[in-house]
Amino acid sequence: MTAARARAVVIAALAAGGGLVALVLASDHQEAKAVWAIFGPAVGWSFVGTGLYACRRRPESRIGLLMTLLGFAWFLSILETANSPLVYTIALATGGLWGSVFLHLGVSFPSGRLAARRDRAIVIAGYVIFPGALVPALFFAGPRELGCDACPTNLLLVERDADLAGVALAFGALLYVGLFLVVLARSIRHWRGSSPLERLQLTPVYVCALLTFLLVAVARAGAGDAAWWAAFISSGLLPFAFLGGLLRSHVTHLDAELRARVEELRASRARLVEAGDAERRRLERDLHDGAQSRLVSLALLLRSARARAAADTELAALLDHAQQELQTSLAELRELARGIHPAVLTERGLEPALQALAARAPVPVELSPGPHERLPGTVESATYFVVSEALANVAKYARATHATVAVRRVNGSVTVDVCDDGVGGADANHGSGLRGLADRVAALDGTLAVDSPAGHGTRLHAEIPCAPG
Ligand SMILES: Nc1ncnc2c1ncn2[C@@H]1O[C@H](COP(=O)(O)OP(=O)(O)O)[C@@H](O)[C@H]1O
Ligand SMILES: [Mg+2]
Repeated sequence: MTAARARAVVIAALAAGGGLVALVLASDHQEAKAVWAIFGPAVGWSFVGTGLYACRRRPESRIGLLMTLLGFAWFLSILETANSPLVYTIALATGGLWGSVFLHLGVSFPSGRLAARRDRAIVIAGYVIFPGALVPALFFAGPRELGCDACPTNLLLVERDADLAGVALAFGALLYVGLFLVVLARSIRHWRGSSPLERLQLTPVYVCALLTFLLVAVARAGAGDAAWWAAFISSGLLPFAFLGGLLRSHVTHLDAELRARVEELRASRARLVEAGDAERRRLERDLHDGAQSRLVSLALLLRSARARAAADTELAALLDHAQQELQTSLAELRELARGIHPAVLTERGLEPALQALAARAPVPVELSPGPHERLPGTVESATYFVVSEALANVAKYARATHATVAVRRVNGSVTVDVCDDGVGGADANHGSGLRGLADRVAALDGTLAVDSPAGHGTRLHAEIPCAPG
């Protein structure tokens, strides 16, 4: 909204409010004149004022526009205090519009837009029912039937008929109640389906709107001046609840953005681990099929050369030495390949791979059986490397007499526990192994905990999400 337009709106609102004060004070039939003369314009102004402010602060939301509109619709309803039958009739027939805009505002909060078809239907029903529900009654209701003996006669009156007027009024009231119940059910469902941050902005708006609705209903039912005071104060506060909620909406925005980023990061981290694992498997295969198999054939060649060189002792000694060197190289290469990615893990799964780890450890390892089935590749590798690093640490630092390893599937996770009875005092901040494990496990949305009180052994516990099979 341009500044000039906003200025014009302000001037129009001031003029309308001023005119209404005069109208209320001169009214022949308005009760509680002082309250109406003060709060009548004040409520309208507070909606227009906060609406214009909201337009400026959140131009992308239509809420500000609706709030401004609501201020003017509210002024329209106060025309009921007019002594002129024409103005009075127009006010009766259109005064309910503020209820329509109010409903539109509440249902479309905080974007000001109606995304769901059901919401659009509710708002359209509001635009029909609020102003329209009273109109049929006007054909038969004189001042007495409308509960205001001192009011002018409405110009739509065709023939006074108290019974018909009563039926039409009751029908109108029924429509109001029906609409109210639909809106209440919709609001409760919407509130329940919202995130905690969205609720932060919805709750004050819904509570204040509901309270105002109830107070106005009580006041209209003839509860006296005090009820009108309460209704007006609540109505006057309402636009601030809308405004407050609206200004909070950027928090929700940020929250949604943050969640999206975290999700993106998590996915990319998982992809990285998966790609790393695939690369390790490929490297291991290349080593196995390439260098390793060449060395094995070389060993065979050396063996037959050694068989033929039996007579030449010097050559035989040389070939013996070459054979030994070759065996050492082969062993080192196998160890290297296993560190990159153990072939047994790819080919036979977790349990045999863990058995191999336990068998190689320098301290006795008690390995609980399982899991027997195959798990997703990234889960198998992460589990394997947790156990492998933990057992390497036991060998290097723990001075333990024995260790236990247990890998279990619990609901939607795989849990890994490696315990030793050594000296304790493990600290992920003093090395790179445990930290690397924690990163690897976290990339799969899992957790790693180290419990290692000095003198009481070490317990490593990892949990890695894994859909139940
Ligand atoms: N099972 C254990 N028992 C005792 N101390 C341990 C154990 N595991 C790890 N530590 C201690 O915690 C430190 C960090 O472990 P880690 O991150 O695996 O480091 P590194 O990369 O040196 O193996 C080690 O330097 C060691 O002092
Ligand atoms: Mg280590």
